[in-house]
Amino acid sequence: MRRDWPSRRHESEDMTTPAHVAIIMDGNGRWAKARGLPRVAGHRAGVEALRQTVRAAADQGISWLTVYAFSSENWSRPKSEVSDLMGLLRIFIRRDLAELHQNGVRVRIIGERDGLQPDIAALLHEAEALTAGNSAINLVIAFNYGGRDEIARAARKIAERVAAGTLAPEDIDVETVSAALDTAEIPDPDLVIRTSGEMRLSNFLLWQAAYSELVFMPCYWPDFTKSHLAEALEQYASRERRFGGLLASGAAS
Ligand code: FPP
Repeated sequence: MRRDWPSRRHESEDMTTPAHVAIIMDGNGRWAKARGLPRVAGHRAGVEALRQTVRAAADQGISWLTVYAFSSENWSRPKSEVSDLMGLLRIFIRRDLAELHQNGVRVRIIGERDGLQPDIAALLHEAEALTAGNSAINLVIAFNYGGRDEIARAARKIAERVAAGTLAPEDIDVETVSAALDTAEIPDPDLVIRTSGEMRLSNFLLWQAAYSELVFMPCYWPDFTKSHLAEALEQYASRERRFGGLLASGAAS
């Protein structure tokens, strides 16, 4: 990222720009394989694509960008690949944090923190603490994240409140669950993008994506550029969001 980020719009100027874009950065391994490179080279190139995308999202006036960096299921990959991904997160935070901070990026992390290596947990905490006062764009990194795990942890928190007598079961509603999720302070994604041609959510933001628009793009994540983001935003702008209701035009007829 360069230092001369243009000042971004604080609010979306029209309803056709999503406030929150979430991305499943898929295809790093296939990108590397297609070039005869080790998988870690694909992940490294993926980090570079992430850097460019944070900047492009800020330029587009997007307020929230969530990226799926490491899923709770990724632990089942070969040890060496897990270690490569942990190493890349360390490098990303150590190298890029100062610049993200300088550019007004607020970093937030979602996912299970318990059980992470202490230095990784400390880096995640440092990234959040340093950037807590920023507001140019929110970068939410889903790390050791799984939607089902998040919902199960939320259910446990709610059950503890019921067991302690501070919450009545009949008072549990959608808001109670939303507030117990890792994303309690984060709006639901308007748009979820997945690269690499796969068309599924893979345990990403299962609760939050209930009414998100989904855009699947064939390019591998390391090839993702600001033009791909613009194309996804164009697709989003052409969608009619109904949230289970009717369009204004349909409601009258
Ligand atoms: C999917 O590609 C990508 C991942 C499992 C990890 C995404 C991680 C990064 C872009 C870099 C690390 C992120 C940070 C924040 C440092 P894949 O390996 O599943 O690709 P494949 O399906 O082609 O094998």
